[in-house]
Amino acid sequence: MAASACYIVLGLIVMVGLKGAEAQRAFYVFGDSLVDNGNNNYLATTARADAYPYGIDFPTGAPTGRFSNGRNIPDFISQSLGAESTLPYLDPQLNGERLLVGANFASAGIGILNDTGIQFVNIIRIYRQLEYWEEYQQRVSALIGPEQTERLINGALVLITLGGNDFVNNYYLVPYSARSRQYNLPDYVKFIISEYKKILRRLYEIGARRVLVTGTGPLGCVPAELAQRSTNGGCSAELQRAASLFNPQLVQIINQLNSEIGSDVFIGVNTQQMHIDFISRPQDYGFITSQIACCGQGPYNGIGLCTAASNLCPDRSVYAFWDPFHPTERANELIVRQILSGTSEYMHPMNLSTILALDSKN
Ligand SMILES: *[C@@H]1O[C@H](CO)[C@@H](O)[C@H](O)[C@H]1NC(C)=O
Ligand SMILES: *[C@@H]1O[C@H](CO)[C@@H](O)[C@H](O)[C@H]1NC(C)=O
Repeated sequence: MAASACYIVLGLIVMVGLKGAEAQRAFYVFGDSLVDNGNNNYLATTARADAYPYGIDFPTGAPTGRFSNGRNIPDFISQSLGAESTLPYLDPQLNGERLLVGANFASAGIGILNDTGIQFVNIIRIYRQLEYWEEYQQRVSALIGPEQTERLINGALVLITLGGNDFVNNYYLVPYSARSRQYNLPDYVKFIISEYKKILRRLYEIGARRVLVTGTGPLGCVPAELAQRSTNGGCSAELQRAASLFNPQLVQIINQLNSEIGSDVFIGVNTQQMHIDFISRPQDYGFITSQIACCGQGPYNGIGLCTAASNLCPDRSVYAFWDPFHPTERANELIVRQILSGTSEYMHPMNLSTILALDSKN
């Protein structure tokens, strides 16, 4: 009698434990400034967004290190998972139970290549971000044990955003850059794509099983490029060519990796098409412009940095771009809406709602 009661109690504890693990889908973020939520605040680098007017529309009204007027893409993904936003990995508050929510390892300025963003000096390059994830897994293991940790990691959603800086902050950073002397554009794209494939493979090796991989936006159409390279208000043809070479090859390596693995681990996010929609029909999305940044100076508000001395638009929700390179909170929200429920034109091979429904059955 006493023994069977004990079994029942044990069974209940195990069930409650499992239920908790299932309800909790962790979220991990890797990449650059489009998804950094404050790691660079802790680093000696100029690539940072921790001063006014960044964060002006964030729930706290204060800058956080996000390159947005408010929330960014990872925040809206967390929200759709029913979770709180992940903390930056370098945030000292990321401890104990909060570790189980996930973590954000992204660092503004980085790229696929180790030599991308060297001018920002002290940033967390992608291989270091992956090492931090392994270190994180050891910390979690000490907390909940190796088996639960493996379940947490394998059951997690991962987001990785890379590539834009390999053009803007490397190949095209200065005329006759080292990489542009070494490679013509098509060969450079082939090279960075092959390096990206290694990074994605490594992510899988260290436990990722569902990974959203974003393509680059239309690089030539951001306010910074309109200001520097456009003659007639059109997008920069050269940077558009870069994006149009990069994105289809990214889909190819996603297909290759998924078929090697035998499972749809990697999901391509067509951010290029999402931004093109904003650019070609801004009014459909409630934007008055998708060319002029809300915060900045010079033509298109596309020159220099967004600072307290810059022009600042009064209503951020009617602009697609917040600063010369980064979308507004409103644009981020619309992008995540497409990630959740977009058709196969936007999400390849399936959208996040489908993933969540599929995985909840397992
Ligand atoms: C970048 O650095 C990592 C180690 O930090 C190394 O494994 C990798 O091969 C490097 N990539 C290139 C293209 O040199
Ligand atoms: C994407 O998500 C929605 C659910 O929100 C679903 O109805 C739709 O069929 C999904 N897939 C595609 C390919 O559109």
